Amino acid sequence: MLTSLRLVNFKNFADETLKLGPFTVIVGANASGKSNIRDAFRFLHWIGRGYTLAEVMGGKVGVGGQLEWERIRGAPNEIVRFRQDRLPDVDAFAVHVGLRLDNEKAVYSAKVGFNPDDPDGFRWLSDGVSVDGRPVAGAMNLASQRRSISESPRPYLTPNPGDESPQDDVRLHLRSNLESMRFLEFSPAQMREPSIPGADTLGDHGQNLPTVLESICADADRKQTLLSWFEELTPMDVQGFEFPRDPSGRVHLRIVERNGRKVSAYSASDGTLRFLGILAALLNEDAGGMYFFEEIDSGIHPNRLWLLLDLIEKQTAKGNIQVITTTHNPALLAWMNDSTFEHTSVVYRDQYWADSVIRPIADLYNLRELRKSYGLEGFLTEGWLEDAMKASEGDYDTDHLEDDDEDDWGMEEEE
Ligand SMILES: Nc1ncnc2c1ncn2[C@@H]1O[C@H](COP(=O)(O)OP(=O)(O)OP(=O)(O)O)[C@@H](O)[C@H]1O
Ligand SMILES: [Mg+2]
Repeated sequence: MLTSLRLVNFKNFADETLKLGPFTVIVGANASGKSNIRDAFRFLHWIGRGYTLAEVMGGKVGVGGQLEWERIRGAPNEIVRFRQDRLPDVDAFAVHVGLRLDNEKAVYSAKVGFNPDDPDGFRWLSDGVSVDGRPVAGAMNLASQRRSISESPRPYLTPNPGDESPQDDVRLHLRSNLESMRFLEFSPAQMREPSIPGADTLGDHGQNLPTVLESICADADRKQTLLSWFEELTPMDVQGFEFPRDPSGRVHLRIVERNGRKVSAYSASDGTLRFLGILAALLNEDAGGMYFFEEIDSGIHPNRLWLLLDLIEKQTAKGNIQVITTTHNPALLAWMNDSTFEHTSVVYRDQYWADSVIRPIADLYNLRELRKSYGLEGFLTEGWLEDAMKASEGDYDTDHLEDDDEDDWGMEEEE
């Protein structure tokens, strides 16, 4: 399981750490930096998949001219934190991700800087792994190599085939955790489309929903779980699903209600499709690893939100799935269980500086005690979390964050 994400000079974060749990909730106002956190995970994901830095930062066109991977949001010079008068010039960013292995904690660190030879390009400065604070793999120091992007050396995490030692477990673990991350941002319009038989991986926008649900329904137990959650989450009295084929062989989705009424994906409501998307992602046979859902509550009625939380808490408690979600809705706090509460952070942008900070809500303003004594419902008005944050600024306790006896970047100093 991933345990932490630390961002140094990445977008609007100077040096902030997000604590991760089985189910992590990131709450914050518009433009506070929630999606910037997702971008950092996307960066790690594509590095883990073995893409070059130029592909990760600039996007990749696959076979047939189709966009295989969209570049990290923003122009290249917007990925490194903006320079500001009060700061020395910053021309590099670092991302550190913590992973719990059996009894140890591994951290993968990547530091990337502008390429002096290419105004739109980046180059590796260093990357490496430490276990329980000790570097295990000589943090690669590429700063002096000054290679151009096209010959950019491969990071430690994904060396050329043949360059890795087979017993290098930590690296393999880290890589498989980053590789398997999924980023889901549902688009009901794309979920309504029929799918091609055999396409049973849910797309990032929810594509292939019919075939993924069909494969879940092929297993009686998983079908039962799907149906019972679906019935709870929507006001529909559902009996099952049908997956008719059209003349060209594509698979469609139809929801069958107990009164015999059939609702096609084309006419199902947006919220219904979003629920189905979440269920398809979490109940799928191959479900495992980290799922990042942008705005999980989007389009979901407030009185169903607690069920959605319950679903994710139960699925993540089983241990092989980890979920991270962003939300604008502090009302979610009212229903979350203790573990989710401990892994909920607020992202807050200072009014005067563009930078944002990330704070576990449990550390704010005695929130943990308040929650036990009174419940949080009465507090969850608009802007309340941000006010609580301002009030507790200054006496914020950073003990839970990663040990910090490294330099400011969390890595060995470069020569
Ligand atoms: N390199 C950078 N340096 C400083 N700030 C940046 C940088 N790049 C982006 N930002 C800031 O990050 C903000 C966008 O953050 P993000 O998209 O993560 O917000 P969000 O919390 O997801 O908002 P929403 O809820 O509206 O989706 C921009 O308004 C911009 O000010
Ligand atoms: Mg966003």
